[in-house]
Amino acid sequence: NMPKAPSLPPKTLANLFFEPSTRTRCAFECAATQLGWHTLNFPVDTSAALKGESYEDTLLTLAQMPIDALAIRHSENHAAQRAAELIGDKVHIINAGDGTNEHPTQSLTNMTAILEEGLDYKHMTIAIVGDIEHSRVARSDLHALGILAPKAIHLICPKKLLPDDIDPSLPITHFDNLAKGLENVDVILVLRMQKERMRDTLLMSLEDYSQDFCLTPEALAIAKPSAIILHPGPVNHDFEISSSLVHCPQSRILHQVHCGVAVRMAVLYTLSGNTL
Ligand code: CP
Repeated sequence: NMPKAPSLPPKTLANLFFEPSTRTRCAFECAATQLGWHTLNFPVDTSAALKGESYEDTLLTLAQMPIDALAIRHSENHAAQRAAELIGDKVHIINAGDGTNEHPTQSLTNMTAILEEGLDYKHMTIAIVGDIEHSRVARSDLHALGILAPKAIHLICPKKLLPDDIDPSLPITHFDNLAKGLENVDVILVLRMQKERMRDTLLMSLEDYSQDFCLTPEALAIAKPSAIILHPGPVNHDFEISSSLVHCPQSRILHQVHCGVAVRMAVLYTLSGNTL
């Protein structure tokens, strides 16, 4: 039951998604609708992009239309930043996921789902499990956690999948053993296995990786009994998380989707010049 914001002047959000999306695109559309905005879902597959129109020309074209905000998903790192540099004086640019770089609104969704548990970050240990090197969600999560300052962050992955540019001021410990990394953990953020990217980086097969790092009921039992599970989706069942855990009582995976609408509403609301 999300309240509609009263009497805002109608604005328009355009979704410009060059990569597939279910949660992010739909959440932005729902959020805009809840706020009384109009939405324009730019149809990349039937657009002039297929005739070879460049990303920059597409942006310049859209900026001539009565659009207030543009949520952009793109396979290239810093695509949203490039858009902001090109047309940011005319349109608010929102990064809806760029390459392996950032996915800020997904991270805000994760942090909101954790806050809703009523847990205190100061006393919290958070584990992030998976391909951290290639995860835009993990990168944005680490930015958010730098602000929220949990007691400890456990990064659980093979050394090969650990980024080398992690902020040294964060209370991070790396574990290449799932069981050890889950000890005393309050929140487990499971990342999607990005099979196509991991195949090139790992020295082990995806099956061996899954054998060692899949969150199973046995592994979950090592974390605190109250530990919650988050996953940005989409889930690869029985690769990064056992199918039986996806909708188990400790899972907040679907609740994250619900939080995602409120988060995008907050983003649109604040970039319209409002304060929460
Ligand atoms: N978490 C996430 O970005 O999901 P979608 O790809 O479905 O938007």
